[in-house]
Amino acid sequence: MAARPRTPKVARTIVALRKALDARPLGSVALVPTMGALHAGHLTLVRQAQKRARRVVVSIFVNPTQFAPHEDFGSYPRTWNADIAALAAEKADLIWAPTPEVMYPQGFATRIEPDGAAKAGLEDKFRPHFFGGVATVVAKLFTQVRPDFAMFGEKDYQQLCVVTQMARDLDLGVKVVGVPTVREKDGLALSSRNAYLAPIERAVAPVLHRSLATCAADLKNGMELPDALARGRAAIERAGFKLDYFELRQAKTLAPVSAHDKGPLRLLVAAAIGKTRLIDNISV
Ligand code: PAF
Repeated sequence: MAARPRTPKVARTIVALRKALDARPLGSVALVPTMGALHAGHLTLVRQAQKRARRVVVSIFVNPTQFAPHEDFGSYPRTWNADIAALAAEKADLIWAPTPEVMYPQGFATRIEPDGAAKAGLEDKFRPHFFGGVATVVAKLFTQVRPDFAMFGEKDYQQLCVVTQMARDLDLGVKVVGVPTVREKDGLALSSRNAYLAPIERAVAPVLHRSLATCAADLKNGMELPDALARGRAAIERAGFKLDYFELRQAKTLAPVSAHDKGPLRLLVAAAIGKTRLIDNISV
């Protein structure tokens, strides 16, 4: 009979985290920050982390400060047992799972307010609280774990840009590594929020990736940018989505693109179907 994978150690307090990390002080550490509800995309981050570092720490913390009051903090999927089993199978070394009180103790009063890509007029326009919450918790995760590498999925592309800039600006001493988006066979980007989709919504959801790919091909074939974007936006709205944005931006800064910009560029989309808001992007 095959042996059950060893359950990784779980630290829930800063003292326990430090003890676990200091027990083996030598060798590099990679952090995979997550909010749990792990899927194959997260597990790819773990595998990529293992290629870079001796030890892999996975944080699981549903961060209340990146959700607005009307958003899905309360209903965000929490799948602790399945997450631990998946991380055991991947041989992750340590799980950092602070409680909200450990992360934000009574009297906590500091917030990082990122600029630059965080004010690009994409996610920030529709979720103005979001990047302040993300930057603050990620800065805390970095100072708590002190990793050499931190792995972030490209699916949350603006988040990846914001965190990369923050690590550089604040000399946090961590290399932020972007990992390509993992997709279902029909192109839908893996996301914990895909679990919210009703079957009929799931069936149309791949239109997001299809429209990004079609738009990129149209641009390559010489179509004018406004026409290519209009075609993509129309396809998404025809499928029943409420579109927040479908935009071509500079890949590094997320600044708007002018006619003379050569690249690298990124095409990004956010749209809601029913109660579920999805985001995706590709390079152009
Ligand atoms: O991408 C996520 O899951 C979250 O935004 C992160 C980076 C773990 C911060 O809470």
